[in-house]
Amino acid sequence: MKVIRTVSELRSTVEKARAKGLTIGLVPTMGALHAGHISLVDRARSENDVVVVSVFVNPTQFNNANDLATYPRTEEADCAKLEASGADIAFIPTVKEVYPEPDTRQFDLGKVAEVMEGAMRPGHFNGVAQIVSKLFAYSQPTRAYFGEKDFQQIAVIRRMAEIEGFDLEIVACPIMREPDGLAMSSRNVRLTPHQREVAPNIARILRESLEYAASNSLTATKQWVVDRINAYEEMEVEYYEIVDASTMQPVSNWADTESAVGCVTVWLGDVRLIDNIKYPNQQ
Ligand code: PAF
Repeated sequence: MKVIRTVSELRSTVEKARAKGLTIGLVPTMGALHAGHISLVDRARSENDVVVVSVFVNPTQFNNANDLATYPRTEEADCAKLEASGADIAFIPTVKEVYPEPDTRQFDLGKVAEVMEGAMRPGHFNGVAQIVSKLFAYSQPTRAYFGEKDFQQIAVIRRMAEIEGFDLEIVACPIMREPDGLAMSSRNVRLTPHQREVAPNIARILRESLEYAASNSLTATKQWVVDRINAYEEMEVEYYEIVDASTMQPVSNWADTESAVGCVTVWLGDVRLIDNIKYPNQQ
């Protein structure tokens, strides 16, 4: 595996590969890699000739200085995992390399970016659009891989790719979970041992809500989930929205959508976890 730290070297390496007719799979990450990321690399490996993984904690998508400062940075361990996973290129630039000048672009991300994370974290999705558009431009991927834990993020990236005219396939990959059900996240390492014990209840309650939803209204299901999570004194729901999987718009009745997804954000102390669940049988 080659570690590339400059945009110019990344561009020239992928240009040579594309000139030979090779396909490029891009896996954008912020490092602190876990098995969820590696599942994206495996998928990219199986579908492309060249696999590029970017490792970059993107400052423009953090709307909270403490979150940026405490975001785990584990470059050496990340490189070892990527080497073992068969990635061809790890792109690990500095902030100055990616943002030699402040990026002042404002993307018209539309309604998909206005709700949930968009409402709670002003500027977050614009920052995601800034970095992902740069990564797409540098690496000219045939396909780019994103995990469904950040369900809304995928819709936002699809919108960015459409308005910017990027010609690539965006591949949404299933959430990877710990054996106890907790959605894998780089933030999980910040949980105290006690919080880590409590956290899997988020996924359990979401899973159990499938059964509750089968004979109850959407509004009642939302309340049921919120009440059960908040019953743990260690956890506080920031939002639980049931939305249409394509438009990300909240729905009021099961009949209003062909594919409902429940998206939750929960605070455990100062750690913010997200998860989601599809309600496939409600229509
Ligand atoms: O999902 C993430 O880890 C980040 O938002 C991404 C897509 C790598 C952009 O920084």
